Amino acid sequence: MVAPVYFVGTPDILLLMKKLIEEYNNLLSDKYDTATQGEFKWLAPVKLYEYIRPYIKNGAEVLDVGVGTGQTSKIFINKGLSVIGVDISEKMLAVAQSKLNFTKLIKYDVEQGLLNIFPQDKFDIVVAVGVLEFIKDIKKTLSEMRQLLKNGGIIAFTYEIYEPNNKYGIEKIAPLGAGSENVPELLNFMVYRRLPNEVDKILRDLSLGIINREKFIGYLRSQLKFPVLYEILVVS
Ligand SMILES: C[S@@+](CC[C@H](N)C(=O)[O-])C[C@H]1O[C@@H](n2cnc3c(N)ncnc32)[C@H](O)[C@@H]1O
Repeated sequence: MVAPVYFVGTPDILLLMKKLIEEYNNLLSDKYDTATQGEFKWLAPVKLYEYIRPYIKNGAEVLDVGVGTGQTSKIFINKGLSVIGVDISEKMLAVAQSKLNFTKLIKYDVEQGLLNIFPQDKFDIVVAVGVLEFIKDIKKTLSEMRQLLKNGGIIAFTYEIYEPNNKYGIEKIAPLGAGSENVPELLNFMVYRRLPNEVDKILRDLSLGIINREKFIGYLRSQLKFPVLYEILVVS
């Protein structure tokens, strides 16, 4: 049996992984809505809506981090709010642009730092749905999201939960394609899973209070259709 080759963090390799994430999402972009709403049953944008609804106020400014095709932004835009979306994939952004009336869409790698592209205290709501599992240092990203909030603003985000001893053998940090056979090289970028108490500690360190939270099955992974556990949190 040949051992799997995992990427570890030299800067060149990190750059290559970024390229893979970008290319993977570019390729996925025109199938994303059909696949997520069909076979994968991606539930996170629906969950987000359930949790964020009480905080949607007229005139609120929203930032959608890892906006994808805009499934999460849609609820805000349909209510007439101003939404800015950020994504590493140009083609995901093109799909979002074709569907919805965004204030602005920015092609950007979130790990380069959100404070490089936005001023502090700008947004009433900052969301990150289905993206933090691709971000290595979520404390940094959550800290930046917090700094972008106006006083009294809220953050809503999801993360993929690490389940030790899960029966599918999914590791805490592993390439997206791990566990499946004949995986294309394009799926060789890392997914970072977290334990709830790790996320709780980050939130405590950042003085972010938890308003609401729920664990849910985010989607059904691969041909095996095994359930992937997520948590959604609303914090302020
Ligand atoms: C699973 S999709 C989720 C999209 C959308 N938020 C939703 O819930 O449907 C993840 C998105 O995050 C983007 N993404 C991944 N890593 C990123 C990064 N470092 N910076 C910006 N966007 C990133 C991908 O291109 C993709 O569009």
